[in-house]
Amino acid sequence: MAVFISRSREETEAFAADYAKTLSAGDVVILDGDMGAGKTVFSKGVAKGLGIEEEVTSPTYAYMNDYDGRLFHYDCYRIESVEQAENLGLADYFDAGGICLIEWAQNIAPLIPPYAKRVKIKKIDEEKREIEY
Ligand SMILES: Nc1ncnc2c1ncn2[C@@H]1O[C@H](COP(=O)(O)OP(=O)(O)OP(=O)(O)O)[C@@H](O)[C@H]1O
Ligand SMILES: [Mg+2]
Repeated sequence: MAVFISRSREETEAFAADYAKTLSAGDVVILDGDMGAGKTVFSKGVAKGLGIEEEVTSPTYAYMNDYDGRLFHYDCYRIESVEQAENLGLADYFDAGGICLIEWAQNIAPLIPPYAKRVKIKKIDEEKREIEY
């Protein structure tokens, strides 16, 4: 495990863009952290690092946004049961050949593959974040 200290939203995005270059198609990454920690900001950076030009927005209502089959960005905050997630077919994208980023993965824990990587973002103060990866 390594730690990066970010002092701004921009630093988190830039770090995430670099981190994206360590990922390969088929990787599943759990983004851990409280509300407002910066999971979606991190996801925007990953998309930039992958060369995805489409704006990454929070998929709170859709649960998962698909960016060209290259990036699948999940927000499972509102998932009510593992059964609901299964019925929605959310697990189908884990081996669809893209990179999966998952916010609030604890709500679908039994579906998360054992090979998933983890990035943990901790809010230290208004602007400072500790990113463990
Ligand atoms: N160093 C930093 N890194 C990331 N975000 C930061 C930083 N400093 C301040 N922020 C702010 O913190 C907020 C992070 O919001 P973001 O939507 O990414 O959180 P989240 O972890 O996805 O929350 P949620 O669980 O509600 O989806 C943004 O408003 C961003 O501008
Ligand atoms: Mg978010």
